[in-house]
Parts: sequence; C-alpha cells; structure tokens
Amino acid sequence: MTHSANGSNTSERVVIFDTTLRDGEQSPGASMTLEEKLEVADLLDQLGVDIIEAGFPIASPGDFESVAEVARRVKNASVAGLARASDKDIDRCAEALREAKRPRIHTFISTSPVHMKYKLQMEPERVLELVASSVTRARNHVAEVEWSAEDGTRTEIDFLCRCVETAIKAGASTINIPDTVGYTTPQEYEALFRTVRERVPNADKAIFSVHCHDDLGLAVANSLAGVRGGARQVECTINGLGERAGNAAMEEVVMALKTRPDILPYHTNIDAKLLTRASKLVSAVTSFPVQYNKAIVGRNAFAHESGIHQDGMLKNAHTYEIMTPESVGVSKTSLVMGKHSGRHAFREKLKELGYDLGENQLNDAFNRFKDLADRKKFVYDEDLIALVDDEIVTA
Ligand code: KIV
Ligand code: ZN
Repeated sequence: MTHSANGSNTSERVVIFDTTLRDGEQSPGASMTLEEKLEVADLLDQLGVDIIEAGFPIASPGDFESVAEVARRVKNASVAGLARASDKDIDRCAEALREAKRPRIHTFISTSPVHMKYKLQMEPERVLELVASSVTRARNHVAEVEWSAEDGTRTEIDFLCRCVETAIKAGASTINIPDTVGYTTPQEYEALFRTVRERVPNADKAIFSVHCHDDLGLAVANSLAGVRGGARQVECTINGLGERAGNAAMEEVVMALKTRPDILPYHTNIDAKLLTRASKLVSAVTSFPVQYNKAIVGRNAFAHESGIHQDGMLKNAHTYEIMTPESVGVSKTSLVMGKHSGRHAFREKLKELGYDLGENQLNDAFNRFKDLADRKKFVYDEDLIALVDDEIVTA
C-alpha cells in the first residue's frame, strides 16, 4: 500500500460489494434462515463492506423479508437487492429496500448471443430497450442504480458498449460486467474493461465492476485483472461461496491487494482482522466446510509441517509466510507435528509444552515421535506429552 508522508493511504480505493447473501446463497444447499442472514449482514457491515447484496426480493416472500430486514438494520453499507429488467421485479425490490439508509437496485439482463437467443428469446434491439426502461424505472425509485450485463464476457463487444452507454444515460452509476459462467481469463478480462471504458463516451460517469465465477478456478485472478483494467468495484463472497464453483472469495481479493501493492496499488475499506471470523460464521450457517488448504482462511493456511519449513519459520517468519496470521485474525502460526517435522521444531514444541530435555533424552524422544508419526495421521499435544513422560520415566 502506498503511504504519504503523514501516513495516509494514497492508493486508489476499490469498493467491495459482497454478495454472500444473494449469489452465495444461490449455491445449492447453502440457504440461510433470516436470523443467520442478519448475523452475516451485521458482520459484513462491521468488516467494512461497502455494499451488501441482501437477496432477490421477487424470488420468494422469505427473500423479500430478509432483504427488508437487512435494509432496516445495516448501519454503514449500502444495501442492494437484485431485480430482473421487469417493472414487477424492480418495484418489489424498491419496496424491500424502503428502509435502507443507502438503497441500491441492482438490475440485470443477459446480453450474450446465446442467452438472448435461447434464454430470453429476444432480439438485441429489444434487450437494449429493456436496459433503458429498467434502469430508468430503478432510478425513479432510488439514487444508486447498478446495471449488469449478464454473461458479459461472452457478449459481442459493440453490443456490450451500446448497452453500457444506454444504461449510463438512463442513470446507472455502477456498471457491472460479470463473467457469469467463469469463462474468461485475466488478460482477456483486463482488456475488456479497457476497451469498454475507452469506447463508451460517457464511461467516466460510472464506476465499473467485476463479478467473477470460479468455474476455471480463475475468479480471483480475473477480478484483480479487471481492477487493473479500470474496474473499481469487486463483487465477491465470503469463502468464495456461490453458484456452481462459486464466486471470487473476498478474503483472497482483499489480501492480494494488501500483500502486493507493488503491482496492485489499490486498497479497500475491509478490516482484514475480521476475515477469519467471517469465514467461520458463513461456514457454520451454511454448513459448507472450508477446505483445509483454502487460501487465507483454511485451517492449514498458516500451518507448517515439514522440517525444512518449520526450521525456517523458527528463524524468521518471512521465510514461508507472505502475510501474518494476525493480519487476518488468526492468533498465531502453527507448527504441526507430523512425520515431516524436524528436530528444531520438535524441541520448540516440547519447550512450549513445558519440557526442557537433555540432548540424549531429546534424541530418544525424537526417534520415538518419528515412529509414532509414521503410524498416526495427526500427532496431538497429548501424544507428545505421553511420549515424553514415558521417556522421562524409563530414562
Ligand atoms: O453471475 C452473474 O451474472 C450474476 C448477475 C445477476 C450479476 O450473478
Ligand atoms: Zn453471479
């Protein structure tokens, strides 16, 4: 991060739009109760998220109620609701957002040839008319209107530019170009934002937004590339929850920006120390486990087992960690005792457990620990205590 002489942050800000409660909840099996959604919304607000997408009000009475309740209680963030390009959707969305301090209507329509032909069964000119009418209607309800070109990355570029220009003219202040099916690549997505922003005459009147799905495992890389191409809003979810393979994970986007300011000179308002707590909460309420080796919030993200790595870590944490565990709300690095662990880490672990063995005893205990570790997947502190107590008794 760039800092000025007085310590203030001089890099450009990227706005974080969290869609855990909308796109995240669309993940099969991830539905949340109203109470659970409110708990997540409260934590997202505390995290410093700029916009919380609370749901899709027309989808069901339950969705309407949860958007309305989130809108009522969120203190800082804008609260967004999703609406298709229809009067009924938009009016229902506006009604759900009535008590929000900063309501945002997020309206979308598909713009790719395959979606227009088969899903919408509409000609492009009709889609263009709906872009204008939907944004205008949303704008008559609220000041903040976001327009999305669904399947934007598979949309023909001239048509995409016409749609974007129309949406901005009708009053959209945010233009989102989603990679709905997780199809794009970083170079292509960066170039797409550059091209649209160059070609659309009124582009400077809107903030551009990335919204990436992870079908090829590129959602975070694509999101960051979109930012390099000029987008200043990132749509993401906690733990990368979302349709199919998920959305871009907020914790990864935020920490990539924090860790590599040399090539990504942008900052967010997110309090990264709350990321682990948010991950645990979303995992608990959705019953979606977080994979052990998940970046930033997986239980192994700051765990080291191999002897070489543990030895390095004991000498200097920068050897194998590019961020501190504390920076994302984890109390400390863990040196996990297993068959790959070395003598240095073993000795330190024993010291932590209150044992200071002489050289011979340490060697014997270490050999017995290696035998145990070959047989056992996890070696717990209790195993080490038993092993060392045994060593002391038999010595
Ligand atoms: O993936 C997508 O295109 C969406 C839109 C509704 C923004 O979720
Ligand atoms: Zn999506």
